[in-house]
Amino acid sequence: MSGPRCRVPAAIAAAMPVGTVRQLEVPGCGALALYRLADGFYATDDRCTHGEASLADGDVDGDEIVCPFHLGRFDIRTGNATAAPCVTALTCHRIVADADGALIVEVATSR
Ligand code: FES
Repeated sequence: MSGPRCRVPAAIAAAMPVGTVRQLEVPGCGALALYRLADGFYATDDRCTHGEASLADGDVDGDEIVCPFHLGRFDIRTGNATAAPCVTALTCHRIVADADGALIVEVATSR
């Protein structure tokens, strides 16, 4: 089951190079992190589960996001923590493509 939806215009999505992340503010839901990997777009909560860091300020390394504060890591596709000090998974959010190329991020209700 999904909650609020956030629409990312096609031009913004297209301007993201592969291997990058940007912050996405969803009114009423706080910040998400939107990633572009070689096979498409992914979204997770923006806040690291270890502290107050914004993962959008971190670096994408392969399929992982590296937290800028203590260099913990998460698998972008699953949200699973993959390197200490992170142990708690990120919440992932489903993305579907709109007819005009925009991305619709369905914010998970279990955040
Ligand atoms: S705040 Fe992200 S690893 Fe510590």
